Amino acid sequence: MQYSSMVIYFMSGTGNSYRASTWIEEAANKKGVTSKLDQISKSCEKLDLEEVDLLGVVFPTHGFTAPWQVIRHALRLPRGNRKHAYVIATRAGTRIASIPFPGFEGTAGYLIALILFLKGYAVRGVMGLDMPSNWMSLHWGLNLENSRFIIRRARVKTDLFMKSILEGKRVYRGFICLFLGLILSSISLGYLVIGRFFLSKLFFASGNCSGCGLCANSCPVQAIRMVGSNKPRPYWTFACESCMRCMGYCPNKAVEASHSFAIILYFIATLPVSFYVLNELGKIIPIEHYLFLYNVVLNYIYILISFFVAYLILSVLIKNPFLNKLCTYTTFTHLYRRYHEPDTSLIDIAERKKV
Ligand SMILES: Cc1cc2nc3c(=O)[nH]c(=O)nc-3n(C[C@H](O)[C@H](O)[C@H](O)COP(=O)(O)O)c2cc1C
Ligand code: SF4
Ligand code: SF4
Repeated sequence: MQYSSMVIYFMSGTGNSYRASTWIEEAANKKGVTSKLDQISKSCEKLDLEEVDLLGVVFPTHGFTAPWQVIRHALRLPRGNRKHAYVIATRAGTRIASIPFPGFEGTAGYLIALILFLKGYAVRGVMGLDMPSNWMSLHWGLNLENSRFIIRRARVKTDLFMKSILEGKRVYRGFICLFLGLILSSISLGYLVIGRFFLSKLFFASGNCSGCGLCANSCPVQAIRMVGSNKPRPYWTFACESCMRCMGYCPNKAVEASHSFAIILYFIATLPVSFYVLNELGKIIPIEHYLFLYNVVLNYIYILISFFVAYLILSVLIKNPFLNKLCTYTTFTHLYRRYHEPDTSLIDIAERKKV
């Protein structure tokens, strides 16, 4: 099979998936395949793939599955008409005491592959790819030596994968991850339905913030609003995908994720409010037939509202220098090293943003 033209749709928070996409582009160019990188964004709605005979989707794993933004993008793709496609989910590789540990992409790759298949694409390859973990709300960013080690290995793996794809072969990897991902699919669903909203409401800017607005301008989903006129501060909305770009690239290392606020938010969100509401409602109208359904819906609404209101209050309180310091020193993230793919600048990933 000789391809002539390829588009690579990529989503990337801290440059890992972007870097992998550039390797793919290089491999394709060497084989004489014209290729184009296109960042997945809200405006990728009118997608014209007429001229393209190979489609790649490259993105980070979030919560053992694909990020919502990528799922939505895949759903919006035009019909495939047996066009060839492949999927790469980058994942959290680490290296401890010189020993490399793989990440776990769960259902990420095969979920997107399934959507592509249902849309009529011939999916020729699926792979999970270890890149340095970027989940800085949870752990230290990797140091340069370990990052480069993991990236070097990832390049070799990507080149081999692309060699096979471009030669017309099929490559399906990661069945064990898929199997375990299916077992853990309730966690992935929880992440997509609630977890990502929870994580978005843990971000705040420490006293180091200069109000430069770089985070807001470079967010791939425009999830940050700068609020306040004197010294504007970032406010994280529910649109946030927790991609870690703002945290990884802030020039003042001012973006933090509050662990103490996470505990407060957890307790607020788990208050049995829906139970009390249903109890009172039950006295007025008969609801016992659909009690479970009412409970789920009410709980969900309550959780989202409680996240929103608690964060609104936090964003006002955080303006106070003392409370800001309190929040900053009660989270581990102010101790954590920041990570972004070492050779990827903000311009590289922001440039391709469609506005
Ligand atoms: C919110 C969040 C969730 C993540 N979940 C997973 C996961 O479930 N499994 C995994 O292996 N890596 C996970 N990671 C790590 C990233 O998938 C990985 O570092 C990826 O290469 C980042 O790519 P990017 O720089 O292109 O965004 C997660 C990262 C973030 C920020
Ligand atoms: S958090 Fe960082 S990037 Fe965002 S406005 Fe403050 S200093 Fe600028
Ligand atoms: S707000 Fe930050 S973490 Fe959230 S999507 Fe935007 S850049 Fe990524």
